[in-house]
Amino acid sequence: MPPPSPSRAPLSDRLDSALLALASGRRRPLLELARDVPGVAAEMARQFAMAPAAVAYDLSMLHAAEFEQRTEALTARYDPLLLERAGLGPGDAVLDVGCGAGGFTAELGRAAAPGPVVGIDVAPPLVARARQRLRGAGVGNVTIVEGDAAVHDFEAGSFDVAVSRFAAMYFGHPVPAFANLARTLRPGGRLALLVWRALEANEWLEAVGEALAGGRPVPERPAGDPGAFALADEATVRAVLAEAGFDDVAVDAVDEPVVFGADVEEAFAFVSTLDLSRRMLEGLDAPSRRAALDRLGDVLVAHGGDEGVLFGSGAWVVSAAARSEVQPSRSTGQPPAAAASRSRRSGLTATGWPQAARSGRSDPLSA
Ligand SMILES: C[S@@+](CC[C@H](N)C(=O)[O-])C[C@H]1O[C@@H](n2cnc3c(N)ncnc32)[C@H](O)[C@@H]1O
Repeated sequence: MPPPSPSRAPLSDRLDSALLALASGRRRPLLELARDVPGVAAEMARQFAMAPAAVAYDLSMLHAAEFEQRTEALTARYDPLLLERAGLGPGDAVLDVGCGAGGFTAELGRAAAPGPVVGIDVAPPLVARARQRLRGAGVGNVTIVEGDAAVHDFEAGSFDVAVSRFAAMYFGHPVPAFANLARTLRPGGRLALLVWRALEANEWLEAVGEALAGGRPVPERPAGDPGAFALADEATVRAVLAEAGFDDVAVDAVDEPVVFGADVEEAFAFVSTLDLSRRMLEGLDAPSRRAALDRLGDVLVAHGGDEGVLFGSGAWVVSAAARSEVQPSRSTGQPPAAAASRSRRSGLTATGWPQAARSGRSDPLSA
């Protein structure tokens, strides 16, 4: 049986307890209700005379806070591997690509201090949350930029190391995106990434998919689609990085458990946020949905233990070096620094792409 989940208590009970919480100054239960139940956000805006944009902002911050708790904890056991691969030293200038809510960026800040560390993320609520968390975290060398790392016009050659923890798979056009990172690195600068290996190496997603499917086929994303598994194929990773301007590419398989939550209830809340879960539950009638959730609950209970609810997972830890010779800009044929300053004047990025192109997703696991 799945654990009791607050999101499945009767609506009137949830509303009562959310209003009680609000009376004592806690807004989160009401925001969770607004997130889960259509129409509540609009009603909230009306009742509390709040601008709909203000309610939307509060909701996005709630999502950002949840993302931070879940995504960072989920893959935390991989962090030492990525830090080792990045090989940071004091004074390094570091770029964190797809920095999310900034927890790992702060780690990078500590490892590279007094060097400047810049986190970039395309999702505004996560950027806001990262900035909020970093204030007072004692890492004054870290700044967060809102933008699409695939096209962002950083000064050419301005970083020693570019790091990305489970984010580089979401580039819509990987070769120009990685070429932009190569341009951003000084010649010989290092790239260090964590990306997921194939579904077969990732028990956690297979187990969730199969539990919710109950014998139905689990829908697959077409190979190469931007998403959690876009860089799951080792040959693709090598080919993309070579074409984008990287040498000395090393791709190593690493396996670590992912942590769904400290207990089954937390794990259940986490799984409910997965895109995969939403897709598997879509269109089911109430009894089939209940049965699917029961099977999921059983799987979570079976994986629970003293260290929390753990599942097997597998990733690639990737490193590479930005090619040493000066790369001409694709769009202008000029060397990068000149191309970058020209494109700033023209309002285009150094790769000639408009800044508005946004391929990123804020869903942590849009597998
Ligand atoms: C799975 S999360 C990982 C976040 C963070 N690195 C961590 O480990 O906690 C993927 C992140 O990549 C960001 N992202 C995806 N595409 C991006 C892009 N083109 N530029 C910048 N950020 C991007 C998403 O908004 C999201 O925050």
